[in-house]
Amino acid sequence: MCLDNGADCASGHGHTVSVTGASGFIASWLVKLLLEKGYTVRGTVRNPDDDAKNAHLRALDGAAERLTLVPADLLDKESLATAFRGCEGVFHTACPVTDDPEKMIEPAVNGTKNVINAAADVGSVQRVVFTSSIGAVYMDPRHGPGDEVDETCWSDLEYCKNTKNWYCYAKTMAEQAAWELAKERRLDLVVVNPSLVLGPLLQQAINASTWHILKYLDGSVQTYVDAAQAYVHVRDVANAHARVYEEPRACGRYLCAGPTLHRGEVCRILGKLFPEYPVPTECKGGAGETVKGCRFSSRRLAELGVGVTPASLCLYDTVTSLQVKGLLPRRTSSAVFDPVVMP
Ligand SMILES: NC(=O)c1ccc[n+]([C@@H]2O[C@H](COP(=O)([O-])OP(=O)(O)OC[C@H]3O[C@@H](n4cnc5c(N)ncnc54)[C@H](OP(=O)(O)O)[C@@H]3O)[C@@H](O)[C@H]2O)c1
Repeated sequence: MCLDNGADCASGHGHTVSVTGASGFIASWLVKLLLEKGYTVRGTVRNPDDDAKNAHLRALDGAAERLTLVPADLLDKESLATAFRGCEGVFHTACPVTDDPEKMIEPAVNGTKNVINAAADVGSVQRVVFTSSIGAVYMDPRHGPGDEVDETCWSDLEYCKNTKNWYCYAKTMAEQAAWELAKERRLDLVVVNPSLVLGPLLQQAINASTWHILKYLDGSVQTYVDAAQAYVHVRDVANAHARVYEEPRACGRYLCAGPTLHRGEVCRILGKLFPEYPVPTECKGGAGETVKGCRFSSRRLAELGVGVTPASLCLYDTVTSLQVKGLLPRRTSSAVFDPVVMP
């Protein structure tokens, strides 16, 4: 690990780190940032020969000289150990993002245990940064509308199970397992807990969190649900990972979340920024906008100098990226709005 107090300096020169699930939405931005910082990066992917998934990584600045893609599966500890051998740091981002318990729980939980054990086994790894989620933080019936949650909060596993929120259940189990095992194996672990992540895609295929926005633009849904959610920009999430890795004093959990918005507010911002699309204007079933949702404190990250981008810019960057990638057809718009002056 190296000391770095500035985001721009080439703090990674001469240092090798591994990123699991390198071709994913968040991981791709993290790999890009680490290469910009001068790190040598070993990205794990399930199939390094899959160009459709990996070409964007090989096209990154510095990739030809300092990025290698190695095969690893979360359920195969030896493949992870082979990838981590000689690395000083591991960023564990790989995980399915689904509410299907069959697909989610085993790779999230046993995969995370395998990552911690493999990192401890190889002996060279000084710090693991694990991408958890606010899903491991706020799913607790004791939180009232508008309550602020922070790093001391943990989702209630029984509540996740009873509400069939298997993504939150698995991320909570995975993070708990990571803390227990890191303690047992005496491995330095730092955790980032992002809210729903938006922003431009580097990869070609859409991922779950950006689909959350696409569905409001392509006519897939005619109404929005009575629900609220916190959003964060993918660049802020990548910055958070690099910052907590490089800061020797970093420890524990770091929430990484912007303001909580009702879906109605999201649709109103999208409608103003992109009036050319059929953005829903009504709440499902004619219900009012009653749900307030929790607020998330990103104070610990702010103390490390990591800020959060306004939600309107997160939405703007997501939509323009979907257009550039051809995932959302462009339409002519006469409106000119500045996302930066919106919430
Ligand atoms: N996006 C969000 O809103 C959000 C919010 C909070 C936390 N997170 C967390 O951030 C991390 C990345 O999310 P993302 O949105 O970037 O997801 P993503 O784009 O779907 O990427 C997930 C990555 O995990 C890999 N993966 C899945 N199962 C695997 C397995 N068994 N072995 C090896 N690799 C496997 C996938 O590889 P394949 O392409 O081969 O399937 C993919 O590269 C996840 O841990 C997620 O829980 C995401």
